[in-house]
Order: sequence, then structure tokens, then C-alpha cells
Amino acid sequence: TSSADLVIVANRLPVDRIVDADGEVRWQTSPGGLVTALEPVIRAARGAWVGWPGSADVALDPFEVDGMTLIPMTLSASDVELYYEGFSNDTIWPLYHDVIAPPRYRRIWWEAYERVNRRFAEAAAAAVAPGGTVWVHDYQLQLVPRLVRELRPDVTIGYFHHIPFPAYGLYSQLPWRRQVLDGLLGADVIGFQRVADAGNFLRAVRRQLPYPTNKSRVIVTDASGMQRSVTAKPFPISIDVAEYQQIAQRPEVIARAAEIRQELGNPRAILLGVDRLDYTKGIRHRLKAFGELLQDGQLSVTDVALVQVASPSRERVAAYMQLRDEIELTVGRINGVFDTTGHTAIRYLHHSYPRDEMVALYLAADVMLVTALRDGMNLVAKEYVAVRGDTGGVLVLSEFAGAADQLQGALLINPHDIDGMKDAMMVAVNMPHADQTRRMRAMQRRLKRDDVAAWAEAFLQELHAHDRTPHADA
Ligand code: G6P
Repeated sequence: TSSADLVIVANRLPVDRIVDADGEVRWQTSPGGLVTALEPVIRAARGAWVGWPGSADVALDPFEVDGMTLIPMTLSASDVELYYEGFSNDTIWPLYHDVIAPPRYRRIWWEAYERVNRRFAEAAAAAVAPGGTVWVHDYQLQLVPRLVRELRPDVTIGYFHHIPFPAYGLYSQLPWRRQVLDGLLGADVIGFQRVADAGNFLRAVRRQLPYPTNKSRVIVTDASGMQRSVTAKPFPISIDVAEYQQIAQRPEVIARAAEIRQELGNPRAILLGVDRLDYTKGIRHRLKAFGELLQDGQLSVTDVALVQVASPSRERVAAYMQLRDEIELTVGRINGVFDTTGHTAIRYLHHSYPRDEMVALYLAADVMLVTALRDGMNLVAKEYVAVRGDTGGVLVLSEFAGAADQLQGALLINPHDIDGMKDAMMVAVNMPHADQTRRMRAMQRRLKRDDVAAWAEAFLQELHAHDRTPHADA
């Protein structure tokens, strides 16, 4: 195969392979924030991307798309069940999101995780040019940095963690807590979303491993007895702001936004939620607050509409099936009580939509609700801010989402506090237009500066300037 100076390793490729009912194969942008953020960066760098095409037992040769080489990894049905649905999404995901759902610790899942991480590492080691860079992404691949280092000591290795890293009291539950830290410490630079995530990681290292640390460095002793310095720091991720703004200026997108408002009966305010259907997103809390506002008579279905897009996600994991049932029951109950023949309280859309349609929805929405109980970053919040120009709009944003650190002009809320969330929703619905645009403009200015290109540059710069030799100061 070809040899690339920069190799991205992520569980998913940026595109999913979809087989239609009539047997035709299409490629569709993969779900989630990781791909949203990284895809433009890699396209620009003409790098290679190692990842899974999204369904089991698909074996494909590497191929080129938009100047990147995609290197598909085959996952068997049992890999998908044990490594992806099991260890990644039923152990690590809930544990790292503050056990909102209970994590399950199963040894055969861990074994599959080790096995699959090794295969990803081998593919990356085979693809990277001499002295090149391997950049590993996210919680599905925490062992890959160490494994790549063993196979290719000549390369520079970065790791970025897109989700939260939990407090030590929770992290310490993990039966393989030491192996995971050791896996990550194979990297030269480990990036996190928030200051707190980097702090939690360093605290876990101090408690579990014998390595000296300081504020942002760890001196690791490898199996060979060699000492190496590793940096762990926050690098808050972002989006391609210019691209979203371009889409938002296209006449057909603007027309579609007007059409959506019309379809909803031109209410005084449209409230919007856009999430993967995930228990971390606080969708139930949001619906509860909205339902109570209708109940109290503070809002009415004749003047507001809530649109909730909940894109299908991890549908074979039990906690996700249960959440879907709960949300659909709640939506049905609220609509049953408050709908009239002419008005619907909540439009619940269990679909994923192309980017243009999402931008049209953002343009149509007066209030964006991001009420995550825990979220590494939340790029939906940034997308909403990016596309709102002088049209104003209000972002209600959970302080438990990483985006709260950058989007200070939002109405920050604690989603566990239903009354507080209701108050913020009312403030949002009634905010004078001048206040809306003032807040939006301030957030946009910062977002334009801190876009995804700046994020990637900051990370890669840290990585390439990284001095591996241990100094006495750590
Ligand atoms: C989050 C994670 C990503 C993941 C995405 C979609 O953004 O940080 O690593 O790819 O969710 O989840 P999925 O399980 O469908 O890949």
C-alpha cells in the first residue's frame, strides 16, 4: 500500500457504506462529532484514514476520496458485538460519561477490544511513512498509541480524546484501568476537550502508575527501560465555520428554512433539539421541561413548536433501546395531552439528515436547546452559532458540555435543574432581538478564530514541537 506522512486512526471512516434495499451501495457521511470535525482537516492534509466502514464483515481495498486515502478495517459480526457495542459503547462510553447509564464490565469484551485495537495499530503501522505521524482518535482505540509505538518506534504519535475523561473515583471502577492508561501513554501528545478532562487523566496516572508527572507532563518508562516524556493538555475541538456559513447563504437552504417555518405554522418561536439518540444528551430532561411549560400555561402549542431530531444511534445496545422507548413514550404523552387538530407540540424525528437540511433547521429555529448531562464538546451548539448571522437566535447550553467553555454568550443551564431550565427556556423565547444578536455576534467572533483548522494546527504543532527527552522539571 501507499505510504502517508499523516495517518488518522479512528473507529469509523468518515463515510459509512450503506447498502440500499435494492442492493445498491452508497457512501454517506458517518454520524457524530468526530467525523464532522476531522474530515476537512484530513482532506486538506491529503493524509490516510484507517477506520471501519460501519457494517460487519465488509472487506474492501483502500481507496481514494477527495485526496485522502481511506483504509477500511473489517470488523466481524462478533467484533462489532464485543468490541464496538460491548466494550466501547456499553463499558467505556457510560463510564466516561459519569455513569449516566451503568457500565458493564465483561472480560470477553475487553479481550475483543485488545484484539481489535491491535489490528487497527497494525494497519496504521503499515500505512505510515518513515518518520511520519500517526494521529489516533477517541475512546474506541485507547490501546492503539502504545501498540503503534511498539511496531513503529520511528513515528510521532498523537491521540485525541473526543469524549470526557471521568473523575478518578469513577475511572477507578475499570478493571483494566492500568492497561488503558498505559495504552494512551504510548502517545507523545494526548489531547482532551476540557481542562478538567486532562486533569482527571493526570490524576488517574498518578494514582495508578509509578511515573513522575507535573501539570501537563508524564515521564514514562517503557518496557525497554527507556524514558520518554508525554504531554497531556486540552485542545477544545471545533467545526469548519466557513463551510457552515457558506451553506447557510445558499438560496435553496434559505428557502428551505422559510418552508420549514411555514410547515410548522409560522409559530412565534421554534425550539430545536438535534442529537444522536443518546442518554448523555439530556433529551428526556428537555422534554420534561417543555411539557411542564405547556402544563403551566407559560407556553402554548399555538405559539411555539419544539422540533426534536434524534438520529438513530447504537441501536443494538440495550440502554439505547430503552432510552428510545422512554423518549417516544414521553413525546406521545405530551402530544396526546397538548396537541390540537391544528397544532403539534413536539415534532419528533427519528432520522439523520444531510447537512443542508440541518442548516435549514438551524436557520428556522429561534431557540436551540443543547441540554446534555455530559458531553465531550457538542458540535451542534457550535454549528448553530456559526450559521446565525444577524438573524439572532438563542442558544440554551448545558454547562456539562465542553462547548460551554467557549460559548459564553449562551444561556448556560444545569439540565438536572428542571426549574432552572424552564426559566432559561422562557428567557430565550422572550429575549429582545438586540440582545440575541449581541450575544450571537460575540460567540461567532470567537468561533471564527477557534475553528477546526486552528484546532488541528494547534494539536499538530504541539505534536511536532514535542520533545520526547525527559527533563528534570517533571
Ligand atoms: C461521538 C464519538 C465518536 C463516534 C460518534 C458516533 O461523537 O466521540 O467517536 O463516532 O459519537 O457514534 P458511533 O458509535 O455511531 O460511531
